[in-house]
Amino acid sequence: MRIAVLGSGAGSNFLALWKACHAGKIAGEISLVGADQQNAGILEQAEARNIPTFFAKKGKDFSERVAQRLLEENIELVCLAGLMQIVKAPLLGAFPNRILNIHPSLLPKFPGKEAWKQALEAREDETGCTVHYVDAGMDTGEIILQERVPIKTDDTPESLHARIQEAEHRVYVESVRTVISSLTD
Ligand code: GRF
Repeated sequence: MRIAVLGSGAGSNFLALWKACHAGKIAGEISLVGADQQNAGILEQAEARNIPTFFAKKGKDFSERVAQRLLEENIELVCLAGLMQIVKAPLLGAFPNRILNIHPSLLPKFPGKEAWKQALEAREDETGCTVHYVDAGMDTGEIILQERVPIKTDDTPESLHARIQEAEHRVYVESVRTVISSLTD
């Protein structure tokens, strides 16, 4: 299974997926990594592992340009990890039910930006992360897996986000495993 990972940030979820592919825990390989920020850590992480990368600048036709690139590279599954762009029809249509996203809350609670801060501000005692299929909405697609993360009384936004990210890495690997086995059954 040829997997593409798209992000805007540091690339820790990319790295977790890459390690799992490398260790044979995921029956696939990360064949392409893309970002909408030229200096995103995720691109550096991929280049260091000799994975082809691309930069797609923001713009009206972002989804169309990205879809074209992924199709050229025969990508079969797309994993979004912190991509700060809404995925639109050309990309959704090119990969129906084959685009996943990781979100740092227990959806449907706290969609949108900095979900860990939203959970702290709402004085929740737990939050978590969710892997879901991507549809035309924001953080709304069908949920694949979630993991709960307790909120401690002395948590800062940073400490909570770091703990959620540890859970993200587990849950993303497990979700991709599950999705690939359902696609290849
Ligand atoms: C993750 O926390 C993810 O939930 C959010 O963006 C972050 C990406 O982190 N959507 P990384 O680039 O994978 O380290």
